[in-house]
Amino acid sequence: MKALICREFAPYSEHSVEDMPTPELKKGMVKIAVKAAGVNFPDILQIQGQYQMKPAFPFIPGAECSGVIEAVAEDVPHLKVGDRVACLTSLGAFAETVVAPAMATMKISDKMSFESAAAFALVYGTSYYALKQRGNLVKGETLLVLGAAGGVGLATVELGKAMGATVIAAASTAEKLAICKAHGADHLINYKDENIKDAVKALGGADVIYDPVGDKVSEPAMRTLKWGGRHLVIGFAGGEIPKIPLNLALLKSIDIRGVFWGAWTLRDPKAHQTNMREIMDMFENGTINPRVSNRYPLEAFKAAFAELMNRKAMGKVVLTMA
Ligand SMILES: NC(=O)c1ccc[n+]([C@@H]2O[C@H](COP(=O)([O-])OP(=O)(O)OC[C@H]3O[C@@H](n4cnc5c(N)ncnc54)[C@H](OP(=O)(O)O)[C@@H]3O)[C@@H](O)[C@H]2O)c1
Repeated sequence: MKALICREFAPYSEHSVEDMPTPELKKGMVKIAVKAAGVNFPDILQIQGQYQMKPAFPFIPGAECSGVIEAVAEDVPHLKVGDRVACLTSLGAFAETVVAPAMATMKISDKMSFESAAAFALVYGTSYYALKQRGNLVKGETLLVLGAAGGVGLATVELGKAMGATVIAAASTAEKLAICKAHGADHLINYKDENIKDAVKALGGADVIYDPVGDKVSEPAMRTLKWGGRHLVIGFAGGEIPKIPLNLALLKSIDIRGVFWGAWTLRDPKAHQTNMREIMDMFENGTINPRVSNRYPLEAFKAAFAELMNRKAMGKVVLTMA
């Protein structure tokens, strides 16, 4: 099978797709013929040695995929050969075949394309956990989403609306903001041209901030929180990890809450499965609609990764397998 291999940490442009032996099926696992795999910012950080989890070499990156089950271990009763599935693989998805835990594999309906399924679980899973379990977002509150047209950002815009919030989308271009509006955002802020603090305050402030950007955006955004507000720390796509003056937390009784979805799914698998069922129901009834920014064949992974790193992605980038 063909797969993207990471033999040592290096800039993503120095990695390559190689022929590898197809992995063996093991107890509790399924073998999937991969049709599409979602690209996430952490995949790129990981092969460059910039992510908190550093797997042993060599490894195949890629945390999520969709495809068709090719083989099922004897002890897996609920899945069968031929099922269309989405899978959270943790690693290994940027390959033509993946062997993954049956527990991390869910059937998808005929309504869901393989590309949508590959662009779905990680971003909606992260954002739903962030808003529901960490942000305690309730109907009628105002949610500010930074990097709102990116992978996790656009999922958050949709989930925020589904949970009954007023959603302020902040992004760096008019084109990105138009996509946020099409996915339900109530208010739009171009934080490249506008002062985000003034713009959000003019809208009455925020109860919850979803922050996958960090860098110079976090602090002015945090200053717009209302009394009892929650700032959700998702990631640092902007580059720098900001250092926040703690008096901001004191003055308005606000909480800075970390969100590490991958670790939580292992600590509380039951609640994670409930979340995933609820998100799947939202897809089935049309409440959420994953957007594929672009698709690239596996061999063109460098162009796919560049789309994220050059700040061009709007929704999710996916890799497709022949
Ligand atoms: N905590 C968790 O459990 C978890 C789970 C998944 C992802 N994450 C993190 O969430 C962040 C976003 O991931 P993603 O997959 O959604 O990425 P993405 O699609 O590339 O979105 C990131 C957004 O950040 C903004 N950005 C600002 N400065 C940037 C820069 N220098 N380079 C790239 N983007 C920049 C961009 O929006 P504008 O151009 O509009 O500013 C972009 O749309 C990453 O830091 C990732 O590690 C965390």
